Amino acid sequence: MKVLAIQSSPNSDGLTATTAKKFLEGAQSMGHETELINLNDQVIKKCKACDGGWGQCRREGTCILEDDFQAIREKIDGADALLFATPVYWWDISESSKTFLDRLRRCETHFGFERYKDKVSVGIAAAGGSGNGAARALYLLEEYLKRLGFKAFDLVTITQRNKGHKLPMLVEAGKRVFS
Ligand SMILES: Cc1cc2nc3c(=O)[nH]c(=O)nc-3n(C[C@H](O)[C@H](O)[C@H](O)COP(=O)(O)O)c2cc1C
Repeated sequence: MKVLAIQSSPNSDGLTATTAKKFLEGAQSMGHETELINLNDQVIKKCKACDGGWGQCRREGTCILEDDFQAIREKIDGADALLFATPVYWWDISESSKTFLDRLRRCETHFGFERYKDKVSVGIAAAGGSGNGAARALYLLEEYLKRLGFKAFDLVTITQRNKGHKLPMLVEAGKRVFS
């Protein structure tokens, strides 16, 4: 089985990225194939809402913009589980998360949100400051993942104060993702 993790902090060794790495460590230990994408290293342009709102995405399930979006989408297609981790910015998900997930949601509309129904998802919101806003950001991330049609495996908030027990928990979660 394959587990794809997308993390959307600019810090590839920060708290958000570490949550993804810990989960993948657990999955790997069970023999699963894993891959981590640092979303902020990819070129993901913002949606142009072409054709007056609903464009090629609704008609054909593809996006007119040329960048790294399509390649990441193909990796999601090839995975059995998707972990999506966002840093908490202003009680919200990150800008790069939004940009990517907005385009994915549009494109999957064409397919009636059916294509991911056999895949499981893990949503993580990492609030590395005060810790405030983690639950709100996670709720917003959950909305995207639900809308996209994934089966939720887990939804996790993590802060500087609770990372001591949550990071080991994520290793365990990674071991059990297909159980
Ligand atoms: C623009 C901005 C807004 C932030 N807003 C919050 C916030 O609302 N709550 C919080 O706990 N931390 C906040 N933080 C801290 C981030 O959540 C923290 O940097 C996050 O865990 C990402 O860390 P990482 O880059 O090490 O993964 C903010 C950071 C930035 C840069």
